[in-house]
Amino acid sequence: MQILKTLDISSWTPPLESDATKEYTHALESGYVAFLPQLNFELAENERRLLSPQWSDGKAKNISYDPQTKLVKHTSALGTDKEAIGQMMARYADYANKLVLTLFPNYSKGIRIGRTSYRPVEADGRSSSVRKDDRLLHVDAFAASPVQGERILRIFSNINPEGKPREWVLGESFDMLAPRFLPKIPKPFPGSSWLLKTLGITKGKRTEYDHYMLQLHDQEKLDTHYQQTCPKTAVSLPASSTWIVYTDLVPHAVKSGQYCLEQTFYLPVESMQEPALSPLRKLERLVGRKLV
Ligand code: SIN
Ligand code: FE
Repeated sequence: MQILKTLDISSWTPPLESDATKEYTHALESGYVAFLPQLNFELAENERRLLSPQWSDGKAKNISYDPQTKLVKHTSALGTDKEAIGQMMARYADYANKLVLTLFPNYSKGIRIGRTSYRPVEADGRSSSVRKDDRLLHVDAFAASPVQGERILRIFSNINPEGKPREWVLGESFDMLAPRFLPKIPKPFPGSSWLLKTLGITKGKRTEYDHYMLQLHDQEKLDTHYQQTCPKTAVSLPASSTWIVYTDLVPHAVKSGQYCLEQTFYLPVESMQEPALSPLRKLERLVGRKLV
């Protein structure tokens, strides 16, 4: 099974022909991981001190940055250290944004930038719960922030200074995964989406689509037998490389690695080159009705 689409690109704003961008978009939407082995996110000399797990607050998995509000959260850093982390993450958000618009120019109409994360803690550590354990195969779905059908597109850069790769595992395709788990997922309770929003548990309405995706995420992680026996492929993502993937479509798990930057984007299904390839349309075909 071919799972990586390797792109021979070493700049965050590479010059590209439109045939190439269409081909890259097709590969990404089909569930390939776009792998850019030569695209490194370089740190400035005075940013090297930021490569330490001490900057995590010890509670959240990641340090987060919001490009809209420019706020840094979940870090122990204060003063100029916190500022430096914010500046590094803002630069990453900017580069990632430019890269997405260059590689997938057709997305420029609908795409929305989300949070930036910095992951300075070794990924092969303890997790607070099975549901939060990203060492288990899963598709991404957010309990508190419903996407209401929008796609979750993520860019990752391994910035490990000692040459340590980030070890991922990819699972079977969504077309195999979804029909396997869907029959086990109960329909949402009538009124539950209203209740979750009213109680402030979700930011916005948890649509039926969000319900099914969250259940898919949870059921896959909770099924120990499935985790052990399902088809999987190990992927070693080297230091100083970058990769891009629709994490709502591609089952993934991180086994080990330290020091990674990640930028999330949201894209309406209608802004895709081939909307039929979205998890929303795939699930709607399976259940035989609209889910948003
Ligand atoms: C995840 O998105 O599930 C974790 C990926 C990573 O931290 O490498
Ligand atoms: Fe994930």
